Parts: sequence; C-alpha cells; structure tokens
Amino acid sequence: MNSREIEEFLSELKAYWISNDIPNVTEKGAQFLKDMIKIKKPKNILEIWTANWYSTIQMWIVAQKIWTKITTIEFSPLSRKQALNNFKTVWFDNFINSLEWNALDIIPTLEEKYDFIFIDWMKKRYLDFLNLIWDKTESWWVIILDDVIKFKHKMENFYEFLKEKNIKYNLLPIDEDDGVILLVR
Ligand SMILES: C[S@@+](CC[C@H](N)C(=O)[O-])C[C@H]1O[C@@H](n2cnc3c(N)ncnc32)[C@H](O)[C@@H]1O
Repeated sequence: MNSREIEEFLSELKAYWISNDIPNVTEKGAQFLKDMIKIKKPKNILEIWTANWYSTIQMWIVAQKIWTKITTIEFSPLSRKQALNNFKTVWFDNFINSLEWNALDIIPTLEEKYDFIFIDWMKKRYLDFLNLIWDKTESWWVIILDDVIKFKHKMENFYEFLKEKNIKYNLLPIDEDDGVILLVR
C-alpha cells in the first residue's frame, strides 16, 4: 500500500467510525500523536486501547519510518477482529504487537519498557492506568491521555493526584471541544 492508499483506507475507517459510533481519535488528535512521535522518536510505544486500529495506524505511519514498535491492547474481540482485518489490509508487518486482553490485567505482566504511552478510554480509571504503567516506563518518556477536558468531571481523582504529587503537565486543547494531557519526563 502506498501512502495515498493508506490515507484513503484511514478515511474509510473514519467513515465507519462515524456511522458505527466508534470513538476514534479525531484527525487533529491523530496529527498530534504523529507530530509527538516525530519529535520524541520513541523506541517502544504502548497504546492502551486499540478499537479498530485507527489511532494505531496513524501512529504506525510515522513509527515504522523510525523502526519504532507499537504494542496495542484491546479487550473486545469484535474490535480486535476489525483490527486484525485492518492489519491484513494495510500490512503492518512486525511493527505492531496486538494484545487481546483486559488492559488492567495484562499491563502488570508486560515485560518490556515503553517511552511513549497513549491512553484513550475509561476516564474514571485514568489514575489506575497511570499507576499501573509507572514501572513500565523507560527513564525518559511521554504519556498522552485523550479527552481530558470534556470528561474532566470523570477524572477528578486523576487531576487531584497530579496536584498532590506536584506533577507538572501540559493541558493542550487540540480539538474544538476537547484536548489531551501531555506528561513528559
Ligand atoms: C476510545 S476506544 C479507543 C480508540 C482508539 N484509540 C482510536 O483512536 O482509534 C476505547 C476502546 O477500549 C476498549 N476497552 C475498554 N476497556 C478496556 C479494557 N479494560 N481493556 C482493554 N480494552 C478496553 C473498548 O473496547 C474500545 O474499543
């Protein structure tokens, strides 16, 4: 697949998202992820929640050029099936490791360390995920959490934790009505 075909394929995924209510990242969100990967040049990406692979493929477009691996977790067999079909369509070869599991259970068992982590679902559990991944990070890392403005009310414990621990963060309103938190060490 050439880059134009991949773009067309992503547009189809997005159209599918709109008609089937799959909450993929927005185009601006995808652009932000790609730009951050270009800047950070991570070695190992962890995505907590694949859905139909829209965000995974967007990240892969940049990641494969710099030999960066992506591990992505999804517990819904249906979403992952779509993901695996998408996998065959675009030929991601060895760059993507797709895990079908509950992220809460599988993260503690992961043996690798990651330097770029994207978390995209269950705002109420963002703090739990942050705590789970602390010891899965390299010394220098980037963590991005999606939808943190619109759903701020669902993640009060997360914001309190950042405040209590005096953890500096960037709140970036990348979409018209929402945005991401960027944590960097
Ligand atoms: C917001 S979507 C991910 C969207 C994807 N990052 C994108 O932008 O294309 C969230 C996904 O997380 C999955 N999910 C929710 N809770 C999970 C859990 N505990 N473990 C694994 N996957 C989970 C849901 O099935 C859903 O497909």
